[in-house]
Amino acid sequence: MSVQNPVKRLFMTLTQGVYVVGVAEAGLRDAFTASSVMQVSLQPPMLALAVNPDNASYPLLISSGIFAVTVLQDDQHDLADLFGNHSARDEDKLRRVQWHAATSGAPVLDAGVSYFDCRIVTKQPAGDHVVVMAEVTGGDFLHASARPLQYSELGDMDGSDELLPRHLDDGWPKRTDEIGVETSTSHTKDFGEKG
Ligand SMILES: Cc1cc2nc3c(=O)[nH]c(=O)nc-3n(C[C@H](O)[C@H](O)[C@H](O)COP(=O)(O)O)c2cc1C
Repeated sequence: MSVQNPVKRLFMTLTQGVYVVGVAEAGLRDAFTASSVMQVSLQPPMLALAVNPDNASYPLLISSGIFAVTVLQDDQHDLADLFGNHSARDEDKLRRVQWHAATSGAPVLDAGVSYFDCRIVTKQPAGDHVVVMAEVTGGDFLHASARPLQYSELGDMDGSDELLPRHLDDGWPKRTDEIGVETSTSHTKDFGEKG
């Protein structure tokens, strides 16, 4: 899964984690992989999430006004793939993992490093995504000694190599250096059934 696009290589030097964002309302639930999550405020503690409004989970996210962010462990490429390359339009992804509901009701993956429970405060369109700002209302460690997964370790798992422009204004970047990207092409499909 080597990355060819120079702009994607440039973006991959921005340090980002990999998360599973869980949403729920009125008996419906979904979860999707997101790398575009960042801390934006200390008082109150707030997170920003950039979400594609085409995601099946988007209407649930907006109508419920809540979500939970599970931080994935460094060896959980398979979970990033399951929640990032499959949609609730086709299957109930959460049936394939162990999860529990946060106080908000949003699903949290039991196998994560930690989680944040969030309440949406505001949203702002941003290109082909919508940036959602949310107050962190709760959270905890799940496997605190585990190392968080980094987005740059996933190569082109999200297919953005083709979606990003290959160059910015005046042909930047001029250099097309390979960055230290670790990739994996074998994703284990056995996640264990939830009872
Ligand atoms: C590594 C990775 C990172 C992703 N990051 C984001 C992201 O930050 N925001 C987003 O809206 N979608 C992101 N996606 C895409 C969604 O996870 C994907 O479209 C998912 O299938 C949506 O599921 P849903 O239709 O059940 O909501 C990412 C996918 C992968 C594989």
